[in-house]
Amino acid sequence: MEREAAGRKISELRKELDEHNYRYYVLAEPVISDRLYDELMDELISLENEFPEFFDPASPSQRIGSDISREFRQARHKHPMLSLDNTYSREELVEFDKRVRKFVSTSYEYVCELKYDGVAVSLTYVQGILELAVTRGDGRQGDDVTANVRTIRSVPLKLRGDYPAELEIRGEILLPREGFSRLNRQREERGEALFANPRNAAAGTLKIQNSSIVAKRPLDCIIYRVIGEGLPFRSHYENLKKASEWGFKISEVRKCERLKDVFEFIDHWDLHRAELPFETDGVVVKINDFGLYDKLGYTAKTPRWAIAYKFSAERAVTRMMSVGFQVGRTGAITPVANLKPVSLAGTTVKRASLHNEEQIRMLDLHENDMVYVEKGGDIIPKITGVDKNKRTPGSKPVEYIDTCPACSSPLVKMPGEAKHYCPSIDTCPPQILGRMEHFVSRRAMNINMAGATVKLLAEKGLVKDAADLYYLKVEDLMGIERFARKSSEKLIQSIEKSKSLPWNRLLYALGIRFVGETVARKVASAFPSADKLIEAGYEDLLAVDEVGERIASSIMDYFSRPANLSIIKKLKDAGVRMENEQDGRKEAGGKLTGKKFVISGTFGQHSRDELKSIIEQNGGTNVSAVSSNVDYLLGGENIGPAKLKKAKELNIPVITENELTGMINHD
Ligand code: IVH
Repeated sequence: MEREAAGRKISELRKELDEHNYRYYVLAEPVISDRLYDELMDELISLENEFPEFFDPASPSQRIGSDISREFRQARHKHPMLSLDNTYSREELVEFDKRVRKFVSTSYEYVCELKYDGVAVSLTYVQGILELAVTRGDGRQGDDVTANVRTIRSVPLKLRGDYPAELEIRGEILLPREGFSRLNRQREERGEALFANPRNAAAGTLKIQNSSIVAKRPLDCIIYRVIGEGLPFRSHYENLKKASEWGFKISEVRKCERLKDVFEFIDHWDLHRAELPFETDGVVVKINDFGLYDKLGYTAKTPRWAIAYKFSAERAVTRMMSVGFQVGRTGAITPVANLKPVSLAGTTVKRASLHNEEQIRMLDLHENDMVYVEKGGDIIPKITGVDKNKRTPGSKPVEYIDTCPACSSPLVKMPGEAKHYCPSIDTCPPQILGRMEHFVSRRAMNINMAGATVKLLAEKGLVKDAADLYYLKVEDLMGIERFARKSSEKLIQSIEKSKSLPWNRLLYALGIRFVGETVARKVASAFPSADKLIEAGYEDLLAVDEVGERIASSIMDYFSRPANLSIIKKLKDAGVRMENEQDGRKEAGGKLTGKKFVISGTFGQHSRDELKSIIEQNGGTNVSAVSSNVDYLLGGENIGPAKLKKAKELNIPVITENELTGMINHD
């Protein structure tokens, strides 16, 4: 390549890689596969080597993605955390083996392990006690995430058996697939951005500043390296097995004498990795004998005694026939690509989500394009790229819509949100239908009614909103096809039964944006009836645990709409329960009934969670922020100064844990 052309290509590649880095590390929404990314990076590095005059310290090739964030204390690694040389081809594994053979005259063994797709962590143990947990960062120093890592059950806080006085363990922090799906479901309910895959979810979780939130997410840790002075063995496999006796989790590991066995391990796991509870993206092949590590040495970033073989993502190429736009119950618009059916990882794929307008723009998607479809960590397949060589000449870029496909209202986009919304909440048919489907769903009002029935009732004009369900009569239902007397009676019974569900279930069923099951429970306990909630002000809402500005505004907005207030009235008139049961305990023995508490600081006799449940068991409510609505600030050691100041300003009594227990036990 000529110098000038090379210069242009280098700057093009740098720009492209910078953009992908940003999407990967910052937005957590990668649009190309790791493999494609690696290929682009390789191309850049080889051009930069060939034309050193274009050297630039800011080139994406000059850094391995750093995860240093400002909020965590930085800790230096005693031994740098290197990365691994990657390959996608078996030939390169053969080459790797040849190189090893050239340096090593004796016989040697390999150890094969899975390449876990999570976040690398270094764990330091002193006298068997976990002292420090640090992320990889830039390889030399990373974030001190000890508090968060301590919450991971598979990381031993204290080792068992005989162990060296000082020990460093390296491993991968993962979010198993099941926990990932659960987390994303919760986030969707709350209208929060979804994590693109389990790795991003694990990385995002480790960065949370509040380790009690981290503790609620089912992170796991599998270790893959043991470093230290007085290790029991001079080989990797044996140390790893020993580490499992100390209490660490290890996964599939196999000692291989020949390359043939390495390939067998790779073939097996390429086929069976979907059965593992967590994601893997390849196999790591390491030399077993530590004695050979120095002999083989290191390149600037990677050891020469190990290599990673990466599995190819399952990918298919197919034609995109059209792009459709779906309207969800909250009015959110989701673009969906309709594909020429193609077989991928054992299923036929006909549609793939395009997420939002930005995604379409990033892909530079044109009508009728040939697209790459991949199944990543998610169940829904996604489009990861476009084969521009196969583009139909003259085809137009896919245009985003600016009006609702169902009701033609002009769409709106809120600052900071990726999705467009249809604002016609009260009149847009798919939103109305979606809300009713949500209302009857099992976790909401649990009315035994299929989505098709909801649609039918709406089409017949029998119900216009969820409250109308409670005014249906057996005769109304018998008038429509498929409904005999018996099934009509059953449905009416099921509707009737739902009237007595707890108030938090109704609140969730209303389908208020960002109010998922957990938030509904918290809000319903802070405001024990619909009337109380309707009366509540913005500040009162903000004071509830887990309620932030977005949720508070959404609730305020919901109850400011006349259409919603009339639904509430209809529900009430029909006898649907909209207040908390006054149970005996809270009525008679509830010394704290109606009282709101904020807890701050640490306590000597009880944990914060214990104090919270003591308050709740005695009829009180826990809220997170001090406002005029709060009755007591329960303060411990290191009480938050801002909370204390606010309580003083508002004349709210600050009490100790002894005073709290005194309030309960006093007759
Ligand atoms: S060994 C000197 N073993 O891959 C490098 N790494 O690209 C030692 N990883 O940062 C790493 N599974 O986060 C090793 N079984 C395994 C691994 C593994 C995943 C990750 C690790 C590392 C990256 C290297």
